[in-house]
Amino acid sequence: MGAFASCLSIVSLYGRFLRRSVTAAGLSSQTVEIDGDTTIHFWGPTGRAATSKPQLVLIHGFGPPSIWQWWKQISFFARDFDVYVPDLVFFGHSFTNSSERSEIFQATCVAKLLEKLGIRSYSVVGTSYGGFVAYRMAAMWPERVEKVVIASSALNMRPGDNDGLLKKANVEKIEDLLVPVTAQHLRKLLHFVVLRRLYIPNFLLNDFIDKLYSENRKEKLQLLKGLSIGQDHTVNISPLSQEVLIVWGEQDQIFSLEKATQLKTLVGETARLQVIKNTSHVPQLEQPAHFNNILDNFLHDLS
Ligand SMILES: *[C@@H]1O[C@H](CO)[C@@H](O)[C@H](O)[C@H]1NC(C)=O
Ligand SMILES: *[C@@H]1O[C@H](CO)[C@@H](O)[C@H](O)[C@H]1NC(C)=O
Repeated sequence: MGAFASCLSIVSLYGRFLRRSVTAAGLSSQTVEIDGDTTIHFWGPTGRAATSKPQLVLIHGFGPPSIWQWWKQISFFARDFDVYVPDLVFFGHSFTNSSERSEIFQATCVAKLLEKLGIRSYSVVGTSYGGFVAYRMAAMWPERVEKVVIASSALNMRPGDNDGLLKKANVEKIEDLLVPVTAQHLRKLLHFVVLRRLYIPNFLLNDFIDKLYSENRKEKLQLLKGLSIGQDHTVNISPLSQEVLIVWGEQDQIFSLEKATQLKTLVGETARLQVIKNTSHVPQLEQPAHFNNILDNFLHDLS
């Protein structure tokens, strides 16, 4: 197995498959320098000819680069939307020399990217950490952000919320799970993130860590420390002016469903909550058809 793994990386092959799938949906890999310090890599429509399609921005969570988390949505939504899928700073091929680390900085980078591309208005979908970023974008630029989808993302988290999870996982710090360095920790993370029990051999988990988790590890840890959400015992979330959809896995092991029901009342009077049964923290990958349907109805105002 070792020799096989060393000459043929399954993760690299799968990455190639994902890039082909996203390319087939009409997107291409692009890089834009948004200021003197920061370069953002993203997937977006190839050769931006003026289209009459609305714009949709998908923002990934802590984990592998954007298309690993959104490929099932990209192929679905690219028919009706111009879909933009950035890698947040320190993920994929996005990088900064700036010392800023908060989710507000990430939100500013995505907004600057879209401005550079000449995109004036768009809807945003953010999952987990990406939900924090989407929320900040919606709050800071209400005139640009149309509709907002917050998926599996407890904007209302508080210090100590993770204690139960850490105990169950038998790890000391949340970063041991979110930025794993060992196959054992990545296995634990998958156990909580996906409801279905998968058996993944160690060599494959190590391949994952090597190809997808090892880059910019120090900076990723700083991103977790740099969050301005979740530091305070008093939740400080102002309602958004936009229409908001909250989507959650009923069995989410990272952010419990209770967080979602509280969040609904905090984020806006008209916020809707849709719960997806039999899924944990990544319903967009666990039940993509159901997830896509819910978003599609919301974005097209059909629900
Ligand atoms: C960061 O700084 C290095 C060294 O000055 C430079 O080579 C690199 O292009 C910079 N990166 C970005 C994203 O601006
Ligand atoms: C949830 O998963 C269980 C076990 O795989 C299955 O029996 C059940 O039908 C599923 N329920 C739904 C609503 O999909």
